[in-house]
Amino acid sequence: MKRIIIAIDGYSSTGKSTMAKQLAKALDYIYVDTGAMYRAITLFAIENDLIGPAGFKKSTLIGELPNLNLEFKYNASLGFSEMYLNGRHVEKEIRTLEVSQFVSQVSVVPEVREKMVALQKAMGKNKGLVMDGRDIGTVVFPEAELKIFMTASPDIRATRRYKELLDRGADISFEEVLENVQARDYIDSHRKFSPLKKAEDAVVLDNSKLNQDEQFKRALALAEEKI
Ligand code: C5P
Repeated sequence: MKRIIIAIDGYSSTGKSTMAKQLAKALDYIYVDTGAMYRAITLFAIENDLIGPAGFKKSTLIGELPNLNLEFKYNASLGFSEMYLNGRHVEKEIRTLEVSQFVSQVSVVPEVREKMVALQKAMGKNKGLVMDGRDIGTVVFPEAELKIFMTASPDIRATRRYKELLDRGADISFEEVLENVQARDYIDSHRKFSPLKKAEDAVVLDNSKLNQDEQFKRALALAEEKI
């Protein structure tokens, strides 16, 4: 059986990672959550006072990039990999609303994107990969055998993210989450370098219309056509 690259892009909280994980499991492929990488750099910037309500020390962050070590380590009990920043497990810390509020400003920086894209391309060397993000089908793997673009209404997306954050014990309102989802999508789709956009050859999955299981079955069938 041929091993392929599956690129999944789309707006925030469209269920990209849930579907990418399901696909990777079904096909016995590696799953890579590129959002986690941008989130880990943002966490570093927040913790070192390089970004916050007072502003963004962009050139200091750029200077620190060579010292940042981002790694995915496989967690066998979960069945997928988790993010480590300079050797520290940061899965929980990178999913907070605070990180979500600053991540789009960090991911707009060309030097940050350059480093991330190089790491991501290297992960695709042996194929057998499902990668999700914003620019996977357009910039990281324009040659991917299967590209899926996921979308859903902002309300549906914010409801999903709100539930996730509440489950993790966050003290936030639905309006704050909706505002963040919309602000991130705006910045992500309007930035100069690698903006979020559908690759011409991507298949659109709109999960305002499909439930998670229907969506997964559609994606798996698309993958099976290619392998
Ligand atoms: O996927 P997730 O919502 O965790 O991504 C967080 C943020 O990281 C996005 O809002 C976007 O700013 C950035 N990102 C990106 N390119 C990617 C993946 C994520 O710019 N490939």
